Amino acid sequence: MKGIVLAGGMGTRLYPITIAVSKQLLPVYNKPMIYYPIATLMELGIRDILIITNPKDLPLFETLLGDGDKYGCSFQYIIQDKPRGIADAFIVAEEFIAKDSVALILGDNIFHGNGLSDINIDKLENNSGLIFAYRVNNPNRYGVVEFDADGNAISIEEKPKNPKSQYAVPGIYFYSNNVINIAKSIEPSDRGELEITDVNNHYLKAGKLKVQTLDEGTAWLDTGTFSSLMQAGQFVQVLEERQGIRIGSLEDAAYKKGYINIEQYNKLISK
Ligand code: TTP
Repeated sequence: MKGIVLAGGMGTRLYPITIAVSKQLLPVYNKPMIYYPIATLMELGIRDILIITNPKDLPLFETLLGDGDKYGCSFQYIIQDKPRGIADAFIVAEEFIAKDSVALILGDNIFHGNGLSDINIDKLENNSGLIFAYRVNNPNRYGVVEFDADGNAISIEEKPKNPKSQYAVPGIYFYSNNVINIAKSIEPSDRGELEITDVNNHYLKAGKLKVQTLDEGTAWLDTGTFSSLMQAGQFVQVLEERQGIRIGSLEDAAYKKGYINIEQYNKLISK
């Protein structure tokens, strides 16, 4: 399975901070934001990763992350010239995805906990999608998923005024290779974007969408507003200081997964 980190966008809700610099390069406590989603993919066993950025910031991401070799991974970069929507990632990344299945994670989303660790990425059914549902206080900011009594997804709505449930769809999605054609087939929404919710509804209608609930013990944070960016930084600080762990560390993820040995790890962290 290939991995994509979507790290373009305008970041308008964080203006003026993001006028000159990409949101995904801002610090979340002690690391650049993009470390967290990349580490999440690496912890899932995904080592072949494409980073999608806007034209201006691509060299900065390359300077920061390189070709991934030092983490035992491959990082590639591609430009999205305009923020055409999250589902546009599959069109931009068509050549990179080639014939494989793909995981997409948003560059401003942070996951922590065991909720994602039981996913078997090799077991994705043919022509299907796997998304998550996470209980939040303010679902109307997100894609909202509604369930029937047996826990099957029955609808997904993008930023609904009157959400049918408290469950938002977090910014990590797994799809079979046919997602490329699905993304090409959908029309831009009223706000002019190719919506990931439309991709998910496509799978849902075909009976090919699995929705897994992320339990309350798993943290899902996004960092798109001043307040959520502060909260994410504080969350990482509290856990790291209390538990003596590192969250979102590319070095730790690479070593834990056996992508690098202890000598390579020590050399990396000595910096
Ligand atoms: P958003 O937070 O929806 O958009 P944004 O980052 O441009 O911020 P704002 O709403 O404040 O203007 O995007 C979610 C993530 O997806 C974020 O990491 C940026 C990325 N993204 C792209 O890379 N390209 C796109 O076309 C869109 C819509 C988002």
